[in-house]
Amino acid sequence: MTTLTFLGQSAVLLEADGKHVLVDPFLTGNPKASASADEVPADVILLTHGHGDHYGDAVPIAKRTGARVVAIVEIANELAEQGVEVADPNLGGTVEFDGGWVRLVPAWHTNTTPNGTVAVAAGLVINFGGRTIYHLGDTALFSDLALPGRRDALDLALIPIGGHYTMDRHDAVEAARLVGAPVVVPVHYDTFPPIETDAQAYKQDVEGAGIARVEVLAPGATLEV
Ligand code: NI
Ligand code: MN
Repeated sequence: MTTLTFLGQSAVLLEADGKHVLVDPFLTGNPKASASADEVPADVILLTHGHGDHYGDAVPIAKRTGARVVAIVEIANELAEQGVEVADPNLGGTVEFDGGWVRLVPAWHTNTTPNGTVAVAAGLVINFGGRTIYHLGDTALFSDLALPGRRDALDLALIPIGGHYTMDRHDAVEAARLVGAPVVVPVHYDTFPPIETDAQAYKQDVEGAGIARVEVLAPGATLEV
């Protein structure tokens, strides 16, 4: 079993067997953050891409905890130059860590870090605590969202619904259908005015179509996966 805690925006903390996987730790400057960069635990940190609302506090948290950061190679190289221990896959690559693994899969989005490093964006297929979670990262709707679920039986998907910078909640209904996970947690909405949306309406649309169960989590809420 894996315990998922939503930290706001696209940040999630996964806990299993006393270990912690931290994804997209945008906490400082995040008006919805439910954890502090000074305190959040991490044994490994995973990044979907380098935009500030995902890269966030990755460097200070990695330095405080000693966690290794898994990010696409160009961003991993930037992090390594800042003194962070990294793994540097590219799309399609799988990195093992204590308790699980993560594979980078395509996402349709741009990707520049706050320091100017340019790469392509990724989604993350994460296996941890015996569960497989697909974090779509920031992406538009595209048909290859269906591919990760053909290889691995997905237990949960984290899907952006806020629009403007990603797919909106209507495209996210079709995304949930393509991904095929039995449980969906919407992310990347209501943090800032451009991405405000109606998560309860999304839940009604997805559940009404019989696609998946949708768990709308307030920042700080947890879910057993
Ligand atoms: Ni982004
Ligand atoms: Mn974003």
